[in-house]
Amino acid sequence: MPNMKVVGTGMYVPDRVVTNHDLAKLMDTNDEWIIQRTGIRERRYVPPGMTSADMIEQAALTAIKEAGIEKDEIEAVVSATLSMDHMFPGIAPFVQDRLGLNGCAVVDIRNQCTGFLYSLAIADAWIKTGLYKTILVTGSEIHSTGLDFSTRGRDVSVIFGDGAGVFVAQATDGQDGPGVLGTDLHGDGKYAKALWTEAEGSVFHPRLTHKMLDEKRLFPQMKGQLVFAHAIRKLPESMKTACEKAGLGIQDVDFWVFHQANLRINEFVCQGLDIPLDKTLNNIDVYGNTTAATMPIVTYEAKKKGLIKDGSIVGFAAFGAGFTWGTIIMRW
Ligand code: UT7
Repeated sequence: MPNMKVVGTGMYVPDRVVTNHDLAKLMDTNDEWIIQRTGIRERRYVPPGMTSADMIEQAALTAIKEAGIEKDEIEAVVSATLSMDHMFPGIAPFVQDRLGLNGCAVVDIRNQCTGFLYSLAIADAWIKTGLYKTILVTGSEIHSTGLDFSTRGRDVSVIFGDGAGVFVAQATDGQDGPGVLGTDLHGDGKYAKALWTEAEGSVFHPRLTHKMLDEKRLFPQMKGQLVFAHAIRKLPESMKTACEKAGLGIQDVDFWVFHQANLRINEFVCQGLDIPLDKTLNNIDVYGNTTAATMPIVTYEAKKKGLIKDGSIVGFAAFGAGFTWGTIIMRW
């Protein structure tokens, strides 16, 4: 059976740096609180006019170059985002058109913080069934245009940043070479409203009103402590299950790519499972939480630093809105 190898990675973040001090001018917050509770010092915001497709294009060109493929070899685009350029269609058709891939399969994955993880699992399944051989997997987010920068929204707004990351995934002939060794995915819709953006939505008649805008129901809302408590319980469970499926132990994993939601969550998980911090890379301090983009961005930077090499056993683990969570174990 074929297996999925990641043959190229790329990332893009906008040039505009927004520090905690910059945010403290807009709302009642401060650098110390944000660093202590989240580990974030600064994040990037897009300049007016820049779209997700713009960011993904830059990241994709890097990934395609590293993969050493021709663009027309790409047979499918799988795109994860919660901040689509428009209500519909999704972001994948815009990415496809921008890259001149018109005609291939396109799909959007709406899974927030685990969007990229689920996208990888879907790409892997498509490759394993023989449907496609070369797939572009993208994660991107523009949060900065949709946050409540008043004090009321401070718990959410200080966390998020903009950015994009891309993998080129290709079929290999499997066996003992590179590929996905174990996958564990979950969701629990009981908590769908614990981290969500309520409006606009088809549940409302009409779906968008001036009142909703006035009531700030178009901004994301989060029960932060509830998310935190579930994340530190569910992530270790899932990481262990995925390792078992791969026939490995936690300590056999050479490098962990964690979603960047909160530095404290990742440190807590590592401490509980006895994972040394040098087997991870956290860049939330400089990019914040870029949701669907965190995992490919961390992967790209870890590869650059030589932390992920050919043959490395790499674990990807994420928890977020839905709630959704999961882990993928891969031989690089
Ligand atoms: O990727 C998406 C998944 N999201 C997550 O994984 C997020 C998980 N949760 C978290 O990261 C944390 O819950 C937060 C960072 C969001 C909040 O940290 P916390 O330690 O749980 O703080 P809290 O919500 O319990 O709030 C503590 C205090 C409150 O004030 P009072 O009621 O004690 O007076 C908040 O109003 O901190 C206040 N607060 C702030 N103060 C300064 C909330 N946000 C801020 C802020 N600056 N930005």
